[in-house]
Amino acid sequence: PAKSPTIFGLPLKYVSLVTLAVQNASLSVVMHYSRVSTPAHLSYSPAAAVLLGEILKGSISFVIALWRAYESELHMSSRKSLTASFRQVCSEIFSSDCWKLSIPALLYVVQNSLQFVAIGNLPVASFQVTYQMKILTTAAFSVILLRRKLTSTKWLSLFFLAIGVGIVQVQTSSSNAGPKDFRVGSAHDAAPLHVHIMSPLKGFCAVTAACFTSGLAGVYFEMVLKNSKADLWVRNVQLSLFSLVPALLPVIYASPFPTSDGIISDLFRHFGGWAWATVSIQVFGGLVTAIVIKYSDNILKGFATSISIILSFLASVVLFDFHVTPSFLIGASTVLAATAMYNQPAPKEPTILASGSKN
Ligand code: C5P
Repeated sequence: PAKSPTIFGLPLKYVSLVTLAVQNASLSVVMHYSRVSTPAHLSYSPAAAVLLGEILKGSISFVIALWRAYESELHMSSRKSLTASFRQVCSEIFSSDCWKLSIPALLYVVQNSLQFVAIGNLPVASFQVTYQMKILTTAAFSVILLRRKLTSTKWLSLFFLAIGVGIVQVQTSSSNAGPKDFRVGSAHDAAPLHVHIMSPLKGFCAVTAACFTSGLAGVYFEMVLKNSKADLWVRNVQLSLFSLVPALLPVIYASPFPTSDGIISDLFRHFGGWAWATVSIQVFGGLVTAIVIKYSDNILKGFATSISIILSFLASVVLFDFHVTPSFLIGASTVLAATAMYNQPAPKEPTILASGSKN
């Protein structure tokens, strides 16, 4: 991993991992609420949310890349020209190897769209636990693409992870046999807001597919990032630019003929505060994820997100009247234990210790 800079005197590597855990937990809670708190016909378009997210992420990354280029120019020479930095960043973005980002871009758009299907059809806590299967896919793709070697302890912990996820999955599926009425609001509310139909099978299929795209896209992005000198933020702009194509397709497909209100108002119909909150948290998460992949790796990212299980679990008990069952607890604990086991540092080699090298 690249040498981690500090932020407020703390290593950016750890600050970004903790931030990602909190971001993950809040995203699943806010996204879930944004999908289930209104009936389907009054709900916002996930395709619009994905598209808006990519536009925002790309723009923010572009501003950061531009600022960094301008700063380094200030250091290099006394000349300071924003136009020159702008030209430099643009030429980096449209470099000959920019096509490499098209693959993770497509995968991430598919993943971000699947996430909406999953979260609207599963209780938050079950979604979070099942989504941990991405540690398994990430490990598999790390071994295949990055030629990373895994110890037997790590393989064993992946096996426990799969069992833990399986326990949660079985209990959620059986307790939600068939589409289920989901009442938003706490048990103490006299009048729940409305009834939302959830289909756990659909949710599990979506979350499983999202785990595959997550593993492949994350490892591919890490490979592109670590095998070249290009700036992280330039790579992010390239990622967002390539995402625009797959993100636009469902939008055009859904409404090929705009009404008299215009394309933009058609697209953002019912796009209320919760939808904006979902997009903002997702954009923030995308930026933090990029930092985590650069300064640590995808496997540590998995650890951070499994901490978020506990946070979103506590939140859903309070907010969505989530009922804790013994099998949920056993499954979730197995997932957490497996994650801790996976992240056990490998015993240090005596030669490394003797040379006094720091981590
Ligand atoms: O679940 P996972 O960690 O794979 O999710 C990654 C998320 O981060 C996706 O929503 C993806 O769009 C976003 N991302 C990003 N920029 C990157 C890497 C990931 O926006 N460079």
